[in-house]
Amino acid sequence: MTENPHDTLQEQTFYEQVGGEETFRRLVHRFYEGVAEDPLLRPMYPEEDLGPAEERFTLFLIQYWGGPRTYSEQRGHPRLRMRHVPFRVDRAAHDAWLSRMRVALDELGLAPEHERRLWDYLTYAAASMINTEG
Ligand code: HEM
Repeated sequence: MTENPHDTLQEQTFYEQVGGEETFRRLVHRFYEGVAEDPLLRPMYPEEDLGPAEERFTLFLIQYWGGPRTYSEQRGHPRLRMRHVPFRVDRAAHDAWLSRMRVALDELGLAPEHERRLWDYLTYAAASMINTEG
């Protein structure tokens, strides 16, 4: 094995460690397949075509984990709680969202420590998005 000092010295971002853009595209694509068949979640999405929503969420996660900053170039500061205000995110929506995400994450087959880190973030973020009691 040849050793390239740049490889050994440079710290990889989490984005790179888990496989870059392709990994996040697969995750969010699978997630939106679940949303499409979810009787609680599907009606919450204003657009008939889920493709643009899938793209926004993919670009957000890519940026969050250290990849290209295309999300903010297109959408500005994420301000996710504010962007969810128009939607009724209650406990049931939160649970449905996380369970669709769990399936998508399981199917990625990441290393356990990567999977754990992503899941911890997603559960934390989902809890913070709740904006309606009940
Ligand atoms: C807790 C349950 C959640 C529900 C029910 C929910 C629902 C929604 C809905 C209905 C939209 C609008 C779709 C669109 O047109 O883009 C949306 C957008 C979005 N959501 Fe969520 N969401 C939840 C949690 C989260 C979490 C945890 C994250 C981040 C980790 C997230 C990230 C986003 C992003 C990035 C957008 C697009 C924002 C934009 O640029 O306009 N959501 N969500």
